Order: sequence, then C-alpha cells, then structure tokens
Amino acid sequence: MTIIPLDSRHIRPAQTSDKAPILAFCQHTWDDEADYIPDVWDVWFADPTGHILVADRDGQPVGMTRLVQLSATEGWWEALRVDRDFRRQGIGHQLTQSTLSLSQSLGLTALRTCVSLTNASMHPFMQHWGFSPLDDFAVHRAAASNGAPTALRLLGEDDCDRAWAAINSFVAEERDRLFVARGAKWQSITPANLAQRLAQGWVWGCFEGAILVSLFIRSYMESPDGTLWIGWLGGTASGLQVALNDMPNLAYQLGFKAVGGFLPQREPLQQLLSATDYRFADSSVYRLYTQDS
Ligand SMILES: CC(C)(COP(=O)(O)OP(=O)(O)OC[C@H]1O[C@@H](n2cnc3c(N)ncnc32)[C@H](O)[C@@H]1OP(=O)(O)O)[C@@H](O)C(=O)NCCC(=O)NCCS
Repeated sequence: MTIIPLDSRHIRPAQTSDKAPILAFCQHTWDDEADYIPDVWDVWFADPTGHILVADRDGQPVGMTRLVQLSATEGWWEALRVDRDFRRQGIGHQLTQSTLSLSQSLGLTALRTCVSLTNASMHPFMQHWGFSPLDDFAVHRAAASNGAPTALRLLGEDDCDRAWAAINSFVAEERDRLFVARGAKWQSITPANLAQRLAQGWVWGCFEGAILVSLFIRSYMESPDGTLWIGWLGGTASGLQVALNDMPNLAYQLGFKAVGGFLPQREPLQQLLSATDYRFADSSVYRLYTQDS
C-alpha cells in the first residue's frame, strides 16, 4: 500500500463517496466543452496503479487530481480540477504539491503531463513547478477507408530485436522514443514494453525488401470512441508516408471508424501529414511537460 504523505492537511486519497460531488463540479470545468472525468471515473477509481487525490474542505470534495505510476520510474499526472466556487484560493497549488510529494515517495524519476495550448494560465503554472516543455502534439485523425491494408504487416514476438533496432534508427533524440500509452499518457518505449505490445498483436511495420522502414504501435483511450489510436509512429520519410496512407485501411479492417493519435508537430511528419487526409483542430494541440529528477 502506498502511504500518501500528509504534507498538506486537506489533501487525501479519493473514496467511494467522492464520485457524485466531484462529477457534479466537473460539469462546470470548462466554459464550452464537456469534461471527460465522468467517462473515466470508474476505470480510474478501480485502477491500483493510479492515485486520485482529493482536496477536502470540511468534508466537501472541492478539487481532484490523479497520478499514475506507469513503470518503476515513470509517472503521469493528469486531471487537475478545482470546483469553480473554490478557485484562486491556492487549492490547485496544494494538489500539485501533494502530487509531487507522492511522486517522490513512489520513487518516480520522470513525471510527465500535458496541457492544452489553449489553457493559457497553466503554462506559467507548469514552469513555476519546475516542469520543462518537451514537444507539442496535435490530435490528427483520418476516416477509416473501405479497403484492406496493403503495406502494414503485423509484427510478432519474434520481431522484437529488429523492431527495437528500427525504432532506435528512426529516433533522433530521447524524447522521440516516448509513446502514448493507455488513455493518452506518454511513456518511454523500452524493449520490455515493446515485447508486450508485440505479444498483444499491437505493432505493425512497413518494409522495403527485408528492411523495416516504418513502425506503428497501437494504443487506446480509456473511454473508447471508435478510433484506432496511434501510440507511436516512426520511420524513414518514405516509410512514414506509406504507413500513414495505409493506416485508414488498417482501421477499417480492425472495425474502427477512424484512425488518430497525438502526433508531434514537427518535421518531417508535419509536411508528410499535410499531403494526406489527416486533419487536426487547433483546439487539440497539447504541450507535453516533464519533470525529471
Ligand atoms: C487550473 C485550476 C485547477 C487551478 O485551480 P485553483 O485552485 O484556482 O489554482 P490556485 O488558486 O492554486 O492557482 C494556481 C495558479 O493557476 C493560475 N491560474 C488559475 N486560474 C487562473 C486564471 N483564471 N487566470 C490566470 N491564472 C490562473 C495562476 O498561475 C495561479 O497561481 P497564482 O494565483 O499564484 O497566480 C482550476 O482553474 C481548474 O480547475 N481549471 C479547469 C481545469 C484545468 O484547466 N485544469 C488543468 C488542466 S492541465
């Protein structure tokens, strides 16, 4: 059992009775869009790798956040929320402080989170707490096409060594070796979690002759929406082009209505994407932050 540090008197682990009041104030999180917390609360509450922290004022839950342990050293921080009636009283800071203390007590050395680019006040907040920006990612989507994949081949457990070698040949920097794991949480690709995805049948590659020229790792959202989610995509320029063009076919074959994912807003991918049917909304751009110790 993890002991949540008592460094902040009013922050505690979530309990069953928190669901109704938290989902009630989450009705008003944003001015113009619905919050996703109601869609994931039950999954989150049941997940032993996640820790939901609640800000409690005299028995009333007025804020929440969640820290997920992704591996022995990596954590993901998400869903910082404060009831509108209690904002600007330092509760967001308190929840953040407790999250960082918990992360430290779990022995995590990399804590990551992402913030929408449109959430202007949160970017200085992240810097204040010592987070550094890594990259911007936009949710790109294309409709599934009515065909069978012609280039993407399902890889298996036997392909682990060459898939790992290919990934390392495609990435220029360490930050490129992060993939989007469950429910949009960024995590390092390692030989172990790659082997796991291969065993699941969640890795596809495109070949030129016997050479892997692109690789696609599948992911998923905690509240499925009919999209085949891209966890990671890498390759040579021509390999990426082939994979991007074939993924709508794969989505169709697997029974999805679209393919989509958080793709880095960087070259060469952006230029390749501009020549495809993938589209993104300006409101769907997120900045990935990390705090490494
Ligand atoms: C973001 C949020 C959790 C902050 O909660 P809070 O209890 O009001 O936060 P605090 O009082 O501790 O203030 C935290 C900081 O956030 C920033 N901030 C919060 N709201 C702000 C606003 N309306 N305008 C400008 N800055 C704001 C400020 O930097 C503030 O620090 P300061 O008061 O020292 O300047 C809350 O506004 C909220 O639930 N927003 C909607 C959800 C959201 O944006 N979550 C973050 C997703 S990454």
